[in-house]
Amino acid sequence: MIVTTKELFAHAYGKYAIGAYNINNLEQTMGLFQGNVDSKAPFIVQLSRGARAYTHKRMLEAMMQTANEIFPEAVFAIHLDHGDEATCMDCINSGYSSVMIDHSHAPFEENVEVTKRVVDAAHAKGVVVEAELGQLKGIEEDIVAAEHVYTKPEEAETFVKATGCDSLAAAIGTSHGAFKFKGDQKLRFDILEEIQKRMPGFPLVMHGSSSVPQDEVARINAAGGNIQGASGVDASQFLGAAKLGVTKINIDTDGRLVWCRVHREFFRDHPEEFDLRGPGKVFMPEYAKFIAAKNVLLGSAGQVDDARAFIEANKK
Ligand code: G3H
Ligand code: 13P
Ligand code: ZN
Repeated sequence: MIVTTKELFAHAYGKYAIGAYNINNLEQTMGLFQGNVDSKAPFIVQLSRGARAYTHKRMLEAMMQTANEIFPEAVFAIHLDHGDEATCMDCINSGYSSVMIDHSHAPFEENVEVTKRVVDAAHAKGVVVEAELGQLKGIEEDIVAAEHVYTKPEEAETFVKATGCDSLAAAIGTSHGAFKFKGDQKLRFDILEEIQKRMPGFPLVMHGSSSVPQDEVARINAAGGNIQGASGVDASQFLGAAKLGVTKINIDTDGRLVWCRVHREFFRDHPEEFDLRGPGKVFMPEYAKFIAAKNVLLGSAGQVDDARAFIEANKK
């Protein structure tokens, strides 16, 4: 069942967070759906501009519709990750139930203006919108920020009122990719707390939330990789963030690490092999297992029947 992120957030708010997983291909799609069905979790499929450009955007859209038929138990949103205005407009008309407009690198007023245009177009089609205020250190799609630009709670309130966006990505010290922290992680939960005080019930989003498991990195390196100094977000923080209004937690890098480990180990152990289906058959269940375990940490595992009933009751 394809739903909006807003519907998912209404069920999750204050209790658990929904996993928002970036995918790019068929094997990830199958593993993602299987893992969420196995763990009985509602979820969000995230498609980035990079993913849409990798093979063909229409292929991804068709895969989502087909996955909905293959997995009738799945309850999920189809979400554009880090969209610009033009891509948002395209997705609003291409079967996405949710889009992210990321104009957070621009001055506040311009961010409001662009976000509002996307919100108006999206809402007219029943599509919901995530926006962003503040900037994550490092790379967000094609924009690079040298330092964290933390979200200011007072600006968040003004921004949400002015744009009518349905959820907000807040910059609290996470970053994209596999190299998040030097030394201790310092997440600014005080920012979440202050936003929640000002806007109780309003859903927040945490980007850059992969945990970068050290055992996964060690296996990759033992199989010929060279990833040094990698670190991620402590997953024991997820439920605390959920209590403070975080309803969506974005995970891409951890899934890439699973892919990398499976493929490196497969070809190390089977140097005579060249059939792509060999590692693919290992990857799909491994990715499903990874998703199911992540959903337990997010608190979304086991929530799907209740979420479906809640969403259906609120439609009536
Ligand atoms: O936030 C970025 C996501 O991890 C997507 O990455 O643009 O390389 O597909 P990508
Ligand atoms: P990670 O790189 O931590 O997986 O974050 C992904 C993300 O925020 C996608 O928008
Ligand atoms: Zn992101």
